Amino acid sequence: MIILGIETSCDETAASILRDGKILSNVVHSQLIHKNYGGVVPDLASKNHEKIIDSIVKVALEKASISLCHINAIAVTQGPGLIGSLIIGLNYAKGLSIGLNIPIIGINHLEGHLHSGILDDHINYPYLCLLVSGGHTQIWYVSNDNKYKIISSTVDDAAGEAFDKGAKILGLGYPGGPEIENVSKNGKPDSFNFTMPRIKNNPLNFSFSGLKTALLYLVKDMDEKEINVNLSNIAASYQECIIDTLLDRLDKAYELFNVNNLLIVGGVSCNKRFRDKATLLEKKLNVNIIFPKNEYCTDNAAMIATAGWKKNIKGIHSSIDILPYSSIE
Ligand code: KG4
Ligand code: ZN
Repeated sequence: MIILGIETSCDETAASILRDGKILSNVVHSQLIHKNYGGVVPDLASKNHEKIIDSIVKVALEKASISLCHINAIAVTQGPGLIGSLIIGLNYAKGLSIGLNIPIIGINHLEGHLHSGILDDHINYPYLCLLVSGGHTQIWYVSNDNKYKIISSTVDDAAGEAFDKGAKILGLGYPGGPEIENVSKNGKPDSFNFTMPRIKNNPLNFSFSGLKTALLYLVKDMDEKEINVNLSNIAASYQECIIDTLLDRLDKAYELFNVNNLLIVGGVSCNKRFRDKATLLEKKLNVNIIFPKNEYCTDNAAMIATAGWKKNIKGIHSSIDILPYSSIE
């Protein structure tokens, strides 16, 4: 069973070939143009997907040594994401589906991230999955292959958003996560005091917009020179607070749910400090915390193809007129 996965929900154009659940290729093109604007410009994102999607799929096929006629099904991200970007991937997949007379499988992008954990590790059900991306911060309870529910989420900004907005405040580039991580390497995480956000009446939920405002207030009265002198320490303290908050909620969720593993996925899970601090939690709880390889943490099509492969086994396909959606439905 050979699946072509396609992902175009935001600013990554990605294609992957999977044979019987095994990744044969995983090609991702990140649109660098958005760096000039300090964030993703939706119109530019869709235009660039349109320009490059065909060649990305061709490279994925070449790398896998598979020809188009051998594909059995196409898994494509349906949402949530930028509508204009999703449409490009969906329409491309629909064209192939009609032309090759093979099924199309619409995949929820978050469900894709959930599957990134099974790409290179063995996970025991049930497990909790902390999904930390640019648009979402959630904890999922995954009871089996096809059964999961959200048990906690952010009430405002996502953790990735806190990195991106924080980087902007500090005059750093986009995406903010890697930029903050980089300058934090030379900083002391306890030099500035950021308070871990807590949500009244819900110990598992997240909130990051207050943290971003605290950063804004901290640097408001500093001149450029003062910010530059303190940059590493401010970034390291800010990063530490985001990481501590994420691990605090995961710790609390583990106390409440009887699970065999913890999984951490999404772009923010590339963060080295986050991974290092998670090993402390791993020891404290005596449970295996799994992080996928970096290439499967940020947006990619291997996770979409994997989710599609699972659905295909169960005979779950979409109709040819599937539509994109911008938020969780
Ligand atoms: O999962 P992802 O690639 O796309 C979404 O579905 O949103 O996540 C992108 C987010 C961005 O906010 C980016 O700043 C963050 O992941 N990110 C990081 C790191 N690498 C990417 N955050 C912290 N540290 C990193 N090393
Ligand atoms: Zn994502």
